[in-house]
Amino acid sequence: MCPASRVMNLKKIKKHLVHWFAGQSPNIVGIDIGTGQVKAAELSLHSGHPILKAAGLIDLPEHVVEDGYVFEREALADSIRRLLATSGISSRDVVVAVAGRAVFVREIIFPVMTKEELKAAVRWDMEKYVPYEPDSYYYDFAVIGPGKDEAELKVLLVAAPHELVNTLADALAAAGCKLLAIDIEPLAVFRTLHDVKNTMVIDIGTTISQISVFQDESPAVTRLIPIGGRKFTEVIMQTTGLEYPEAERLKQQTGMLKYRDLKGELSMAHQRLQLLASELGREVERTVEYYQAQNRETVLDRIYLTGGGSKLDNLPEYLAAQLGDIQVLRHNPLSVLTPAASLDREYLHGLAPQLAVAIGLALHGGMDVNY
Ligand SMILES: Nc1ncnc2c1ncn2[C@@H]1O[C@H](COP(=O)(O)OP(=O)(O)OP(=O)(O)O)[C@@H](O)[C@H]1O
Ligand SMILES: [Mg+2]
Repeated sequence: MCPASRVMNLKKIKKHLVHWFAGQSPNIVGIDIGTGQVKAAELSLHSGHPILKAAGLIDLPEHVVEDGYVFEREALADSIRRLLATSGISSRDVVVAVAGRAVFVREIIFPVMTKEELKAAVRWDMEKYVPYEPDSYYYDFAVIGPGKDEAELKVLLVAAPHELVNTLADALAAAGCKLLAIDIEPLAVFRTLHDVKNTMVIDIGTTISQISVFQDESPAVTRLIPIGGRKFTEVIMQTTGLEYPEAERLKQQTGMLKYRDLKGELSMAHQRLQLLASELGREVERTVEYYQAQNRETVLDRIYLTGGGSKLDNLPEYLAAQLGDIQVLRHNPLSVLTPAASLDREYLHGLAPQLAVAIGLALHGGMDVNY
């Protein structure tokens, strides 16, 4: 592992991967370590096309991972081991993402210069951009394209604290995995999208919703909103008195955001769920407005929802009604690959919105993906 004073081994491939550790392997496993659940997807390449060999998820006990930090290494390693075994994932060559508020992602404009000059310029300017103690974080960068004109370079800079990266790497080693690369979640999701330009993605997780706006193949805006699936479940607990598992089951039924005129205790739950969805919608609206104010010539016309929280029935329709002219769709990351014949289609489609990060991470793995 290298300190912040060294630029890590960056290699530019399709869709601008960011990786601190690089390697190649025929079967790659993307592991998405969330706060509530760990998701994994194993991919292989056949004639340049990705095949999904196996996938699955496992619940994570509370406080094992919080805000991207691993607090209980053994518990996480145990969950990963069990997930890989029960999902029938055979490879142990993995790609993971760093996530949470401590991960720094930003586009920075530099004057045009050579690669070596850029390396030196980024190193020189790091303290200006990254709000951490020098030598306490890893960083990496990629040239994304020209800036406003040919005299400028647009550079994506990513940094994460040593502690966050090291504890993650330790847990994976304890689970028997070989870490090929570390990425960030927005870029992983991006690899699972088709033909995107000026597109917003909202990854609705357990505790956080992560908004990314993609412009010319890189995240122009990333924002974390402290509303995730757990808040929706808690609303049901508060309004019905149900315990967490029952409230979670109820939330996963159809129509939870639809009904307006129900009587009795469920009516209150529906209303409060709608209020929470509207709060999320308002935060999204603010991000759209911010983006449009910065980029007057481009129009955001599509929002993809992903993450487990996006499975809330009717959520895309609910947000679309609030946002007006923007199309809101639930993202299906399976559309960029072919699932192996042995996989249960129904199970897989139920899981799909939650698999975008894991699939995108596996697509990373140094492979020349053709889609
Ligand atoms: N069918 C469903 N309907 C509604 N919500 C669901 C459904 N299935 C899963 N969820 C919710 O999805 C959330 C988990 O999603 P996900 O796995 O994307 O989060 P995570 O990655 O663990 O969290 P984070 O990204 O915040 O760290 C949980 O809050 C769960 O309640
Ligand atoms: Mg997540």
